[in-house]
Formats: sequence, structure tokens, C-alpha cells
Amino acid sequence: MQKIGNLKIKEGAFLAPMADYTNVAFRTLAKEYGSTLGYTELVSAKAICFNSKRTFEMLEVSEEEKPVFLQLFGNDPEVIANAIKIVEKKLPKNFVGYDLNCGCSVPKAIKGKYGCYLMDHPVLVGKIIAAMKNATKKPITAKLRIGLEKETFLEVAKEAEKNGADAICLHARFGKQGYSGVADWKKIKELKNKVKVPVIGNGDVVDVTTYKKMKKETNCDFVMVARGIIGNAFLFKQIKQFCEGKKVKEKNEKEILIEGKRFLELANDFSLGVNNVRGYFIGLANGFNGAKKLRDSFARAKNIEEIEKPFLKFFK
Ligand SMILES: Cc1cc2nc3c(=O)[nH]c(=O)nc-3n(C[C@H](O)[C@H](O)[C@H](O)COP(=O)(O)O)c2cc1C
Repeated sequence: MQKIGNLKIKEGAFLAPMADYTNVAFRTLAKEYGSTLGYTELVSAKAICFNSKRTFEMLEVSEEEKPVFLQLFGNDPEVIANAIKIVEKKLPKNFVGYDLNCGCSVPKAIKGKYGCYLMDHPVLVGKIIAAMKNATKKPITAKLRIGLEKETFLEVAKEAEKNGADAICLHARFGKQGYSGVADWKKIKELKNKVKVPVIGNGDVVDVTTYKKMKKETNCDFVMVARGIIGNAFLFKQIKQFCEGKKVKEKNEKEILIEGKRFLELANDFSLGVNNVRGYFIGLANGFNGAKKLRDSFARAKNIEEIEKPFLKFFK
């Protein structure tokens, strides 16, 4: 058993924060399949302070998916600390910790001076982390990139650690890269050698082989997976089997059917709209004869029924 702050965590992989994907249903599915920690998508600290109804809907958490971290974005230490205090007061049991987004590199984030913008402002990151630590007893993490355009992750990580961060996550790409190119795992190894707090490695883990490889090559304490899980929560099951020393099962069409049906049930339980379901099914329809046709029909679907019907018909 490893720890982030006072939180004990089993060996395995984390579900990464993903905007428009890691809603309560997706995270519950991931937990059922074996993710050891989930993250919400990025949530605006300012909107929490403004008591935005839509933002509070994003804070829904199921009992089954716990433990989960809330990822916040913003740039004002006071606003972010206030957001945490509000969540702690209104929803004290939802989250086991809070994460600071320092990785979002879309133009809106850089212009708005949050997300990956913070990678060029290590001292500010330190101030935000200190304010977050003051607002709660729960663990605080920061999710970094290598830098926005120039390499700054070691400076940012050290400021975060100095001010109380309990773990540092590194998506080993520059902000300017978006998701292109290959994640540079050497940077994760470098980070692991430079900080004392646990390191969460992230970038390009898509199967058990890459999971093992990242752990071995970087010595990171935890691994976080994003795109490899879209339509493939089964990967968490495989990683769990590997960690428990069991035989890793191959995914087959029966498993695809089980996973898809379960996601549909959860989508219904948590009233997801078609836009929160489509992407998952496009990911699920992969690697078998007829998958492309099925994917195309999911892409055109205007409601969940138009996803469910062809999916169930195909696998019947
Ligand atoms: C659709 C999508 C949405 C994402 N949203 C977030 C987000 O809200 N917060 C965040 O820190 N990272 C976000 N990311 C980045 C991922 O968490 C992760 O760092 C990145 O995809 C690299 O991991 P991977 O190679 O396993 O996909 C997002 C990625 C994708 C593909």
C-alpha cells in the first residue's frame, strides 16, 4: 500500500482528469474495473465561488467511485482556497483531495492565465498550493506538463513541494505540443529523482506493457491513464490483474458487450446526455470486424437510443 499524504492507495492505475469524459458515470465504471484513484475533469474554482448550478452538477460523486480527487483550475490563491472551503462545507464527503490543473494548454486557458500558463509562473504555483493546503487537511496534488514552451517542470514541482503538495503528476509533454508527439518519460524519471513526494507518471500508457514500462523506466510511484481508457475501462482490470500477479486476460467481444452495457446503465443512472456517451462508444468500437461501421453510426447518433440499439444488435 502506498500513500499520497494521509491517503492510502493500492497499487494500480489512476483515472486521469478528462474534460467532457470523466463524469460521475465514467469514473464509477473505471472504479468498478479497478482504477485505484479517480479525478474529476477540470472545474473552475471561480465558478464554485459564484455558486454556479452547472458547476455544482459537475461535483456529483457516487459512493461506488470513491476515492476521487477534485481538479480545480484558476490562478488566484484566495479564490482557489475559497472554492475548497465551500466544497468542504457543502460536500464534505465527496472528495479525498484536491488537484491544481497546471496542464491545460488550450488558447482559452493561456489567455485566461490558468492551466499550463502556470508552468511559466512557479512562484504563483507555490502560493496557490500553500493556500490550498491552508484550506483543507486533505492531500493536495498538482498536475504539470514539462513546461508551456520552455522546460520549467522542476522549478514548478519544487515550489509545489516546498509549499506542501503531497504528490506531483507529470504529463510528460510541453503545453505547446497538445497531445502530439511522444511523451518524454525521461522527464518523469528526472522528477522522481528531484522531489521527495510521490510522483504520478502520465502520458502514453495504453496497455499493460506500457504500464509496466513506465513504472520500470521512470520509477514513478503511480501511473495515470487518460486516452487509453476511453472505451476501454477493461484496461484497469488488466492492470489490476497484473498488479495482483494474476494472468492478464485479453479483451474479447463478450467483454466489449459487458463494458458497453454497464456504461449504458450508469449513463442512465446518472442521466448523461448523448454527448457524454458518444465518445466512450466510439472508443469501444475498436479492433474487431465491423467496428468502423459501428463507430460511424455512433458518431451520427442524436440520442443515447441511437447508440444503444446498433450496439446491442451488433453483439447479439
Ligand atoms: C479529452 C481529454 C480531456 C482532457 N481534460 C483534462 C482535464 O480536464 N484536466 C487535465 O489535467 N488534463 C486533461 N487532459 C489530459 C489528460 O489528463 C492526460 O494528461 C493526457 O491525455 C496524457 O495522458 P494519456 O497519454 O494517457 O492520454 C485531457 C485529455 C483528453 C484526451
